[in-house]
Amino acid sequence: MIEKTLVLIKPDGVQRGLIGEIILRFEKCGLKIIGIKMVYASRELAGKHYTDDEAWLKSVGEKSIKSYENQGKKLTVDPLTQGKQVREWLLDYITASPIVALILEGHNAVRNVRKIVGPTSPADAAPGTIRGDFTFDTPMLGDMQKRPVQNLIHASGSVEEAQTEIKIWFKPEEIHAWKRIDEDLLYREGN
Ligand code: TYD
Repeated sequence: MIEKTLVLIKPDGVQRGLIGEIILRFEKCGLKIIGIKMVYASRELAGKHYTDDEAWLKSVGEKSIKSYENQGKKLTVDPLTQGKQVREWLLDYITASPIVALILEGHNAVRNVRKIVGPTSPADAAPGTIRGDFTFDTPMLGDMQKRPVQNLIHASGSVEEAQTEIKIWFKPEEIHAWKRIDEDLLYREGN
């Protein structure tokens, strides 16, 4: 149940001076940072992270459609076309300035990090989540400005995704095993 997950603080988080604020939320919750660095990603690296896998592109497009619906609007393009457009904008965006990459470890880390981050569209993110507290951007506003929705963070969606993404962003020697002082309270030997 001890999982690792990948978090990227995207250019909007870095440029708005929110690195510390964002990391604080994960640390306060009990998650352990076992990898951390600032990266100026190449387009090739970004393309490995946001792949052109058709199923993922369609799922992004479907999420766009839902978020338009939540605002009482209709997106007229099909999910795949929308997903491809969003990916192009994402690649431009994520390579335009440095980002911060983190590996966080802890019990159910993938789910807990997503809970702290909130859903993709900040307009649908509850107060108390990072996306809900620090922006009100929407996919529709992003589309109008020909950019991706600025939702501050990327966080792996599953344990398998985390394993793949950690390999994209970190070398094994950049990942460090250490013990938080509060781990003795949470995890007992042999249980
Ligand atoms: P996705 O993997 O679906 O969301 P998440 O980051 O919450 O796992 O989408 C990847 C990124 O694509 C998302 O963080 C921001 C961008 N995006 C848009 O710009 N517009 C959209 O309509 C959607 C769904 C995503």
